Amino acid sequence: MFKINENYLKLPGSYLFSTIAKKVAAYTEAHPKADIIRLGIGDVTQPIAPAILEAVHKATDEMGTSQGFHGYAPDLGYEFLRSVIAREDFQSRGCDISADEIFVSDGAKCDCGNIQEIFSLDNRVAVCDPVYPVYVDSNIMAGRGGVYDTVTERFSDIIYMPCTAENNFAPQLPEETPDLIYLCFPNNPTGSVLTKDQLQQWVDYANKNGAVILYDAAYEAYISEDNVPHSIYECQGARTCAIEFRSFSKNAGFTGMRLGFTVVPKDLKCGDVMLHTLWARRHGTKYNGAPYIIQKAGEAVYSPEGKAQLKEQVAYYMKNARVIYDGLKAAGYTVSGGVNSPYIWMKTPDGMSSWEFFDYLLERANVVGTPGSGFGPSGEGYFRLTAFGTYENTVRAVERVRGI
Ligand code: MLT
Repeated sequence: MFKINENYLKLPGSYLFSTIAKKVAAYTEAHPKADIIRLGIGDVTQPIAPAILEAVHKATDEMGTSQGFHGYAPDLGYEFLRSVIAREDFQSRGCDISADEIFVSDGAKCDCGNIQEIFSLDNRVAVCDPVYPVYVDSNIMAGRGGVYDTVTERFSDIIYMPCTAENNFAPQLPEETPDLIYLCFPNNPTGSVLTKDQLQQWVDYANKNGAVILYDAAYEAYISEDNVPHSIYECQGARTCAIEFRSFSKNAGFTGMRLGFTVVPKDLKCGDVMLHTLWARRHGTKYNGAPYIIQKAGEAVYSPEGKAQLKEQVAYYMKNARVIYDGLKAAGYTVSGGVNSPYIWMKTPDGMSSWEFFDYLLERANVVGTPGSGFGPSGEGYFRLTAFGTYENTVRAVERVRGI
């Protein structure tokens, strides 16, 4: 008789954004005329920029010719994309990263979820609390969670690093020593950032303790302040302790196109084994590469026209962030984030729980957000709104929230 991976049974509930989608679907069915504005999941709304679309069309046409046809992509990504990424995202910022340390994939979510496979099951994992659920759930599925406590809503073997108003939503170095440390900055969900000095402390800590930092920089395009690093490799010593994940979803609107990459420096080793070799082996075995057309679209992200158009797109979303931040603040809400990030983190009013506020907002304002507690126990009493809606809907949503 076959057996299942019982670790899956330890996962409490369904994936956060699936739960929200189900709740909204049920509400819509009961209230078919409701004009719902969705500021929940961080999905973009602006169309693909013209320079990128042109690259898609060109690559699509190429695929219809015998000279331009491309079959399986190289499993680590096309050289044309890896080299432009290395140059534009890293070398131009003084980071010592080369093209052969870039692994192209179909998105940062998959890479963040899959990376744990190359590490032993007895590694201790540390996460921020609240946290993007993928880091925790993928480790629970693998068997690194221990026992789930329904009262504290925590797993016994995971080290949680609370990110609260008291520490400005920036984690402190943990008391217990972890082996794998997940950091995401600009942060999902709180929208907070680490300064370069703060991130350097983490890099020094990881090198001192033989830990690996799994650094999710999916939102780096939203950084507006100078002392905030765009990449962990801006810190001294990061090559020996950090893996970085990047996405094309948030900076270029690829949520429906799927493209991302992971950086694994060759200096990152366990004994004399390079993690680069393990990830290359994993990638080559389980993945057949992002499509040529999509990688060509990714290349266009770095063209002068692509860059200019995407700068405007990011500015569009950041204008929304300002509308939400200022509007809610003026209405007396406690808000943070939204300055280097498309996420605004608000305190729920009148001591409401995160899910109570979710229902309240859905029913009274027909606005969907994300309950803070869905990201972890320290998110209780908070609520996340995304700036990725259209400007018009964002303005209407804020008016509605202010009106209730
Ligand atoms: C979010 O809303 O947290 C993100 O959109 C989820 C994701 O990028 O996978």
